[in-house]
Amino acid sequence: MPRRKRQPQHLPSTPTDEAVASLPAARLLGIETSCDETAAAVVENGHVILSNAVATQIDLHAKYGGVFPEVASRQHILTIHAIIEEALKQAHVSLQEVDAIAVTRGPGLAGSLVVGMNVAKGLALATGLPLIGVNHLEAHVYSAWLSPSSEMLTPPPNFPLVALIVSGGHTELVLMNEHLNYQRLGGTLDDAAGEAFDKIARLLGLSYPGGPSIQKAAEEGNPHAFNFPRAWLEGSWDFSFSGLKTAVLREVRRMEESGRSLPISDLAASFQSAVVDVLVGKTLMAAQAFRAKEVLIVGGVSANKALRQTIEAQSTFPVRIPPLHLCTDNAAMTAAAGYFRLIQGQRDSLDIDVLPNWLLSEVMPPL
Ligand code: KG4
Ligand code: ZN
Repeated sequence: MPRRKRQPQHLPSTPTDEAVASLPAARLLGIETSCDETAAAVVENGHVILSNAVATQIDLHAKYGGVFPEVASRQHILTIHAIIEEALKQAHVSLQEVDAIAVTRGPGLAGSLVVGMNVAKGLALATGLPLIGVNHLEAHVYSAWLSPSSEMLTPPPNFPLVALIVSGGHTELVLMNEHLNYQRLGGTLDDAAGEAFDKIARLLGLSYPGGPSIQKAAEEGNPHAFNFPRAWLEGSWDFSFSGLKTAVLREVRRMEESGRSLPISDLAASFQSAVVDVLVGKTLMAAQAFRAKEVLIVGGVSANKALRQTIEAQSTFPVRIPPLHLCTDNAAMTAAAGYFRLIQGQRDSLDIDVLPNWLLSEVMPPL
């Protein structure tokens, strides 16, 4: 259990305040270095963000058109200490006022993960604080529990819920009946949704990361200009984006061969709408089938405006999508997931290794 009990700073006044205030008090430092953001955050009781510092490496990788793993890990080494200091400073807490350290253990780039893991281990060793290794996809799910401050508490999500995790490396549809419990319904059979955005952006000559570039180009385009295929994969909760990718590639080659200039905005808008239709359609079907009380959309691709607008327009279920800065990688979500593991008793040893290919279906509740 957390070492200190702390009185809630504000008297409970709403059901949300009461629900959150009834949880054990614990302040966690979160550390995230799974890909190309170096991030640290301080979060109270799994809900309240006291600080959320993120140093993005996007500019460094843009010239390679994707994340260059060795550059990423070296940059994490250069940035991590300053980011942790910044997170503590912004939260107005010292390490002595933190109850545990949560760190991303995987999935992600091995060389990047070890930077965060080693710093977290060093801090845990020096302070005696509990170390909690967190799955990055679980962390994305817990971004939906975060509130911007103790004055603006958002009500915690209700179980059972269906969560769509859409990031650069993953597309997973899961059913959660309770905290830390994931029933995988399906996932991508080939590219992740974010990966498809990134690859199509590269094909169209748009900058990295592809998601925001496609979104921007699509704003000027007609989503009905090209009728790209939607892989519904009837009878399964899986996704596939390879057929769509090939269809866009074929269309681009055909136009290039005929000497036509590419209608980039129309291609981007039509591609985006094919991705969004399937993500939204299958998520809402799953919510219906499993009688979900609500739907979460999390991960980098959940920042997509068309995705947000489409699901909000079509859903008969409450839909929760984190604010934009919590969709992409950050450490507040790592600290939030770590909190729910801490209060269920998880303590990791200082010799845990990173797990670059850690599946959400392999994640266990603490014993
Ligand atoms: O969750 P995230 O920050 O990192 C991973 O865990 O992978 O997700 C990054 C992915 C990238 O593929 C990026 O292109 C995509 O999220 N992304 C978007 C948008 N913003 C970021 N995709 C579509 N629309 C966006 N606005
Ligand atoms: Zn992520």
